[in-house]
Amino acid sequence: MLFFKQLRAPVFMTMLGMLLVGCVAHHADEPDRQEQERASKHDPATPTIEATNDDEDQRSIQQGKALFHGKAACSECHGEDGNINRVSHSQLARLNPPPTDLRTPNDKSPRQLYLIIKYGISATGMIPIQEAAELNDEEILHVISYLSHLQGHSPSFDLISSQSFLPHTDTDVAISLICEQEALADVDKEERCEDRYAKRYRDLIIGRPPDISIDRYAEIEAGCKRQAVKDLDTLALCYRTEYLASRPATHKVGNDQ
Ligand code: HEC
Repeated sequence: MLFFKQLRAPVFMTMLGMLLVGCVAHHADEPDRQEQERASKHDPATPTIEATNDDEDQRSIQQGKALFHGKAACSECHGEDGNINRVSHSQLARLNPPPTDLRTPNDKSPRQLYLIIKYGISATGMIPIQEAAELNDEEILHVISYLSHLQGHSPSFDLISSQSFLPHTDTDVAISLICEQEALADVDKEERCEDRYAKRYRDLIIGRPPDISIDRYAEIEAGCKRQAVKDLDTLALCYRTEYLASRPATHKVGNDQ
């Protein structure tokens, strides 16, 4: 029950209702050892783990897999092994927008994945999981290893850990500028500055969704900035709404490959 007890987002609770409690309780109550065993059991539908020489990378993928199906509860929405057709509770697969099929290769960097898991994607069922499931930063890195593996590219654990904490997106840069200016004005503000702005900027940090063309993205950006340039929350919500409306209807339930 840990995962749902931790949830503080009332919208999310309303959305899912008590329907889910039974299925989530079942997962969360399973002892860790069983999760580990389940994780290491070979499933023919799962991509075979690439042979790399580095035991640390392999361990990280396995730990990520165990977290994905266990404590982090990702599989509750995204399906077993990231397969959207294997969501145990059909109500979850009917979320609007639907959870993404996480096997589909995409262009998100480890930093973007880190931010999605940490801050969530506003106006969607993708809540800030780090907070909800009490994942520490290292656990997030393992989940990123597993996600990358699912998508057929396996960057080393070292690369994932160095990139996840490296603020390099355009929005990261914008936030550090704001924070530098704030820090000049008031030294005490410096510490939580990034966090404060990142939450408000979360849609912008995540960047252009991979399935939206650059031209369409530029159009959305210009349109939203005309409407809401002064209010970051409204701007973020405008982007989100436009992205979702522009998204091709892929990864839908029943669209297995
Ligand atoms: C309560 C349901 C729920 C849970 C639990 C959940 N997600 Fe999500 N997730 C979603 C939904 C819904 C979306 C789609 C949002 C959108 O379309 O922008 C999403 C989107 C994502 C994306 C963005 C995919 C893309 O390329 O656009 C990633 C990555 C992701 N989730 C990873 C995770 C991971 C990792 C976990 C566990 C730590 C997790 N999710 C747990 C519902 C959930």
